[in-house]
Amino acid sequence: MDETAPLTPMSLGTLLGRVEHEWETRGRIFDLPTGRVWRRDPAVDLGFSFLGRPCATPLGPAAGPHSQLAQNIVLSWLGGSRLFELKTVQILDQLEINRPCIDMQTVGYNIEWSQELTVAQSTTEYVKAAMLIELLRRWEPVAALVGPDPGPHVFDMSVGYDLAGISSPKVAGFLRSMRNASAEIERLRPEIGGAFAPFADLDIDPCLADTLTLSTFHGCPPEEIESITKHLIDEHELDVIVKLNPTLLGYETVAGIVNDQLGYTDISVKEQAFAEDLHFGRGIELIAELNQYAKDRGRRFGIKLTNTLVVDNTKGWMPDETMYLSGPPLHVLACTLLDRLADALPGTFALPGHDGDVMVSFSAGITKENLAATLATGVNPTTVCSDLLKPGGYGRLAPMLKALTSEIVAAECTDLASWRADRQRQAEAGGWTSTAAQYAASLQAEGANPYRAENNSKLPREVDHDLDMFGCVACNFCVTVCPNDAFTSIKSLDGMADRQQYLVFAELCNECGNCMTFCPETGDPAMIKPRLFLDPDRYAASQGPAFLLANGQITATRSDEDTTTLVQRLLDRTDGNPLGVDQ
Ligand SMILES: Cc1cc2nc3c(=O)[nH]c(=O)nc-3n(C[C@H](O)[C@H](O)[C@H](O)COP(=O)(O)O)c2cc1C
Ligand code: SF4
Ligand code: SF4
Repeated sequence: MDETAPLTPMSLGTLLGRVEHEWETRGRIFDLPTGRVWRRDPAVDLGFSFLGRPCATPLGPAAGPHSQLAQNIVLSWLGGSRLFELKTVQILDQLEINRPCIDMQTVGYNIEWSQELTVAQSTTEYVKAAMLIELLRRWEPVAALVGPDPGPHVFDMSVGYDLAGISSPKVAGFLRSMRNASAEIERLRPEIGGAFAPFADLDIDPCLADTLTLSTFHGCPPEEIESITKHLIDEHELDVIVKLNPTLLGYETVAGIVNDQLGYTDISVKEQAFAEDLHFGRGIELIAELNQYAKDRGRRFGIKLTNTLVVDNTKGWMPDETMYLSGPPLHVLACTLLDRLADALPGTFALPGHDGDVMVSFSAGITKENLAATLATGVNPTTVCSDLLKPGGYGRLAPMLKALTSEIVAAECTDLASWRADRQRQAEAGGWTSTAAQYAASLQAEGANPYRAENNSKLPREVDHDLDMFGCVACNFCVTVCPNDAFTSIKSLDGMADRQQYLVFAELCNECGNCMTFCPETGDPAMIKPRLFLDPDRYAASQGPAFLLANGQITATRSDEDTTTLVQRLLDRTDGNPLGVDQ
């Protein structure tokens, strides 16, 4: 793999050119088929209040690879996300992350513990995303898909990991730029052209975000959580959510659930992480104290369950000693924690049966199958990471919302709030104090349990064939599992055996390894398929076969003439600039 492989975001102008061109030539936007664009059902209101801000659906990407680059956020929005927990920003923004860093083969593991852009680049990506959404929703082809009123959305910032970093001029500047992004919006505005030119003067709300989820990294001491939250409330006048770790449950409970109850004998829960993390007793004090602190200052406070779980890297596929677990087992841990916290702090949380005011946001193994049951507990919103890294990618969001809508309609309700109240009445009729308690208990039940190891151990399909630059089983997985939309497909040339050929925008690839995990053939698609570069410096720093493009033409390559001719013919396939990237 390349030694220098920083993500190099595409400019706003390039992204708009790509959208317009892709739509005209392939009827897709950032490779998402139109059937996977979510359209609000006017008869069912999925909206909720995110710390007082209206938000049209209770779903969105969790801080992670799906909320880092502008096109990722747009893809999530097209899929129906309306709450975006943006990728965590922190002072150390030039760190090297070891690769591969994502392993979604069975449950979920990652070692992607930091943002990969500089803080300034992150600001630009979030501003570009906000502008793209405003432009796309007014552009006729997208307006026809999402409907006349796609509903309000919320960008929720995420920062970490200590007070010194968060108070630094760099991170403080980021927070201020997100509160008032007018300078960055005006800097980018001249890039609005092509089909989007009629909207160039569009008013764009300069306040991109005024809420924040604090990502408390493993080992963050309670005093630090407290002082950061107070700092964000006092210095930046933000409403704050504290993202808690599953270690709050204590080692015995966590190991008992993961290893014994769910049967993941191969997961080695890292015991020493528990000593360093926030403990349950101090956790419940802190929630009560910080809620009061926020209230006294006219601000809102919430918690998020949960961040990932620290485990030993027993698989050895990713290079670090420690890895972070997500997905199905984390779902059981987070729901257990929700029930225990609600029990310990009666009347505190904004959950049915508890009727407090502390909003509980949720991210842990959300799927289409459990979205409704999880939301019924009262958590708001549900955010997703692992499930979107599976085949289908962003295309998995709209079916989740459709399933939720069907559930609400089947209960003869017309909105999320009344449906939840109905579920709470049913839980009480069954002898439960709350839907949260009922749901947590259902996850402990013996018998068929979708969270158990044997139901999450199936490996991705494999075929006995080494991957080539041209031709493959054309499963399209590399396109959909890539959070950055770095892969794109083009119809094969006449005479080629397969229907589609696959190309990589190398500058959007951070070598996370996810496409390699799901590719049925042997080899790394991100390295083997034709790698296209737009930036001469990035091209020069790369190794292996690659193609530098200018205006749709290959201007440099390390490949032989025949291969280069084939790639150029693929690029020429429609109209000389089939990817729309150089307009
Ligand atoms: C690849 C990857 C990167 C992540 N990066 C962050 C991050 O930057 N900040 C953060 O607070 N959480 C991060 N997370 C945790 C997610 O936001 C989420 O809380 C967790 O994965 C549980 O949700 P899931 O089971 O749907 O994946 C990351 C998770 C994954 C898998
Ligand atoms: S192309 Fe593959 S390795 Fe690169 S970012 Fe996408 S999924 Fe990860
Ligand atoms: S490169 Fe692999 S993942 Fe991509 S379409 Fe071909 S076989 Fe599928």
